[in-house]
Amino acid sequence: MKPRVYITRRIPEEALKIIAGRCDYRMWDSEDERVPRDVLESEVGQVDGLYTLLTERVDPDLLNRAPGLKVVANMAVGYDNVDVEECSRRGVVVTNTPGVLTETTADLAFALMMAAARRVPEAERFLRGGKWKTWSPMLLTGVDVFGATLGLIGLGRIGQAVAKRAKGFSMPVLYSGRSRRPDLEDALGVEWRGLDDLLRESDFVSIHVPLTETTRGMIGSREIALMKPTAVLVNTSRGPVVREPDLYEALREKRIFAAGLDVFETEPLPSDSPFLGLPNVVLLPHIGSASVATRTKMAVMAARNLVQVLSGQRPDNPVNHIM
Ligand code: GLV
Repeated sequence: MKPRVYITRRIPEEALKIIAGRCDYRMWDSEDERVPRDVLESEVGQVDGLYTLLTERVDPDLLNRAPGLKVVANMAVGYDNVDVEECSRRGVVVTNTPGVLTETTADLAFALMMAAARRVPEAERFLRGGKWKTWSPMLLTGVDVFGATLGLIGLGRIGQAVAKRAKGFSMPVLYSGRSRRPDLEDALGVEWRGLDDLLRESDFVSIHVPLTETTRGMIGSREIALMKPTAVLVNTSRGPVVREPDLYEALREKRIFAAGLDVFETEPLPSDSPFLGLPNVVLLPHIGSASVATRTKMAVMAARNLVQVLSGQRPDNPVNHIM
């Protein structure tokens, strides 16, 4: 009998073929609607494998309903939506999609830096809103990116890729993280700072840490108060790393120049989010890795990981090491 799999969203054909060749699958066949929790809860009762997106919470309650589950293949590099410890305890392999999205996500972090610094979306809204009367000396003026100091919170794969881009803009690059990386300091020309010093010295601060119990809420009013009034904060990691009410207050009172956010505490961003009323924040709907090529690679990678575990092989990208 073929292994049984549930896929929580419509995925690219290339990825689906990999699963369809080896498994009996059922899928929540929608592009843009999440599988309702009750449907997911009932589907997992029958399956050996679960193909998830970051929109699904794999928690003890869901795992209780999935006695036959052997693998959770998450189509994302981040896996804070999955209770990995609980999966390990139950012998469920968890996999993710590292590497393939590094450059695409670094591109978006840079795009957010530039968009927030130069007020690109605000300027476009201004033009489309029919407000452009004449060229004016100080109209829609922002801050410079070229030559500014960049502070990276986290120097993992994506942080390093952002550092490489920054070099092309003659930006001195600082980083903070759990551990110093002398090898990378030489190779990338980056300098280590403790978090507080990094926040004080940087013109741009870009966050590249996973969401863990240590990083949750690590940027709040105390940290934002250390930043320059001309600084820009960019977050392409996970929303809860930043305390949103604190960032909102700082932006409203113009204690920093601007922010660029691709991730939020609650996604999708609620329609009554106070951020929507602020001009000095660029808001994107979690599209860090969203190029056609990269999302296809992520989907295929997750499918391979899933099928590998269900065929008794060690997957290419395990998060827990229980096989
Ligand atoms: C996207 O946010 C990912 O973790 O891949």
